[in-house]
Amino acid sequence: MIFTVAIDGPAAAGKGTISRAVADRFGFARLDTGLLYRAVGVLGGDPIAAAQGLCAQDLERGDLRTLEAGQAASRVAVIPEVRAALVEFQRKFARQSGGAVLDGRDIGTVICPEAEVKLFVTASAEVRAHRRWLEVNTSADAPSLAQVLAEVKERDARDMNRAEAPLRPAEDALLIDTTKMGIDEAVTAACDAVLAELKAA
Ligand code: DC
Repeated sequence: MIFTVAIDGPAAAGKGTISRAVADRFGFARLDTGLLYRAVGVLGGDPIAAAQGLCAQDLERGDLRTLEAGQAASRVAVIPEVRAALVEFQRKFARQSGGAVLDGRDIGTVICPEAEVKLFVTASAEVRAHRRWLEVNTSADAPSLAQVLAEVKERDARDMNRAEAPLRPAEDALLIDTTKMGIDEAVTAACDAVLAELKAA
C-alpha cells in the first residue's frame, strides 16, 4: 500500500508529536524532514555539497535539536540547490510501500502534492515559543523566553517569505490549530483524518 501523510507547519506547532503518533497508530514509516536541513546547516562548509552528500549517519548527530541548528537549517533551506538535492530522497520515502508520514514545511505543497492526507499544524508564535522554551530551559545558560520568541518569529519570517517552497498550507490541507487545543485532541483530529481517508481508499 502506498499512502502518504504530509504534515506541515511552523516550528514547535506540534508536528513532531502528531507525526510520531500517526506513524505509531497506523504502522507507517516516519521522516522528520527538518533533520535533513538541520544536518546540512550544522555540517558547515558548502551547503550544496553537504546536501548532495548527506548520509544516514549525518542525521544521527546529537547537535541537531538545538536552536542554533534550527536557525542554520532555516538559512540553508532558502538555497534552491540545497532543496533540490533533498527532493528525491523525500519523495522515495513518501511513496515506499506500507505508508509514510513526513513532517516539514513543503511536504503537501512541493514534495508530495499527491499525498493522501495533508495536515497543516499551527499555533500562535507565543504559544510555540513557550513550548520550545520549556524544552530548552534545562541549564543555567538556557535562552530566555523572549529570546526563544524572537528566534521563532525570525525563523517563521524566513521560512514563509523565501522564494523557493515557502511555508504555506496546501489548498486541500486540513488545518489543525494547537494554540488552545491539547495535544491529545490534535492527535485525535489527525488520526481521524487518516482513518477517514484509509476507509475511502
Ligand atoms: O522542523 P524543523 O524546526 O526541524 O526545521 C528546521 C528548518 O528547516 C526550518 O526552519 C526550515 C527548514 N525546513 C524546510 O525548509 N523544509 C522542510 N521540509 C523542513 C524544514
